[in-house]
Amino acid sequence: MLAALLSGAPASARALAGRLRGRRPAPPRAPAEATITLYRDGPLLVRGPFTLRRADGAELPVRRRVVALCRCGRSRMPPFCDGSHHAAGFRDPPEP
Ligand code: FES
Repeated sequence: MLAALLSGAPASARALAGRLRGRRPAPPRAPAEATITLYRDGPLLVRGPFTLRRADGAELPVRRRVVALCRCGRSRMPPFCDGSHHAAGFRDPPEP
């Protein structure tokens, strides 16, 4: 009965119903592929499943779901962004 009532309900309502029945809600699905987004006047934001490797092929451990990669060249912890682009006044090149 409850399942029938909630079949068209939002995910939060279904999660609550699952908890009421003693079940945990299913974890959110991981994205199938990585997405790279240019953050305005800042880093490249990488989301999704990916492997980050050094020039020699060694894998760099990534402990976050979203990683910011420097594209201004001023980071003190490359290849990651450390916010130095702000002080450097980095700006995106004009769009064609
Ligand atoms: S883009 Fe943030 S430090 Fe370079």
